[in-house]
Amino acid sequence: MPRVLSCIQPTGSVHLGNHLGALINWVAGQHEGDVYHGIVDLHALTVVDTPGLIGDQTVELAAMLFAVGLDPQVATVFVQSHIHEHSELSWIMECTVSYGELSRMTQFKDKSAKREGEFISAGIFTYPALMAADILLYDADEVPVGDDQRQHVEITRDVALRFNHRFGDTFVIPRAVHPKAGARVMDLQDPTSKMSKSAATDAGIVYMLDDNATIEKKFKRAVTDNDGEVRYDRAAKPGVSNLLDILSACSGTPVDTLAASYSQYGPLKKDTAEAVISVVEPVRARYGELMADRGELTRLLRIGNDRARAVAAATLARVHSAVGLLPRV
Ligand code: TRP
Repeated sequence: MPRVLSCIQPTGSVHLGNHLGALINWVAGQHEGDVYHGIVDLHALTVVDTPGLIGDQTVELAAMLFAVGLDPQVATVFVQSHIHEHSELSWIMECTVSYGELSRMTQFKDKSAKREGEFISAGIFTYPALMAADILLYDADEVPVGDDQRQHVEITRDVALRFNHRFGDTFVIPRAVHPKAGARVMDLQDPTSKMSKSAATDAGIVYMLDDNATIEKKFKRAVTDNDGEVRYDRAAKPGVSNLLDILSACSGTPVDTLAASYSQYGPLKKDTAEAVISVVEPVRARYGELMADRGELTRLLRIGNDRARAVAAATLARVHSAVGLLPRV
């Protein structure tokens, strides 16, 4: 079984796009690989500085990951900052990557340009070194990432190869893989943009913790078009196609079959809302139970953290010995 690592930052609430686009596949994938899922709170620190916020969001995200169906006995779910080896290996990675390489990262260029005149932490710059540490600590064979993160996996490979060349074979060289295609869920108010927490308003975003009435309202108000025809055509009819995609992802029925069975937008919206509610409701219930029982949530996290820590500690020991740091006394 390949060792697979994917990580998620605890920033913002999980929405339907995250769930249908990615998390559902994480749940299915836990039986197809030896999977590690990190909640990367230290990465979130590059952009969040409100006291307490990251911790709250970390516990909420952990509860959500278990609520959607990650089984701590099968998938290793851990919190990045709880495994001190991440920060320690990150420094060694910073000394293995070059200033020039980090300067060429498109994400760094974008993020720092957006923040011009504001505080730009050095963490935004060295972010890929921490990400390389995340990946290499777990001897990951595969890292499923979207296009925006491919460059970070490439730099991880470059750095791992350089390290192995300098200090002898130490790291497994990871590959970026395309995540299994999940549903591409678009904003209900702006169906040409992906559903994303960076949208200007929440009206087109369905959160996993929205109540049923809110979900119904958001679908009722979903943007469609004026021609009144139900047909799947992403370019010409983005709103209607998005509803069909969401309904299909929630019901398992192919879009073409669905499109043929509707002649009006009203019933399509109503049924899509209902299908979404049937997916979201049990997740919300389990999430509520876990958030109300912090002892249990901590117990589940500890299972993953303990497993992650054992692997990470062994890798870091290998690194120290390869570099030839004086053994600890
Ligand atoms: N940079 C990733 C993102 O923003 C998150 C991340 C951090 C990550 N460490 C990782 C993803 C390791 C995969 C593997 O989405």
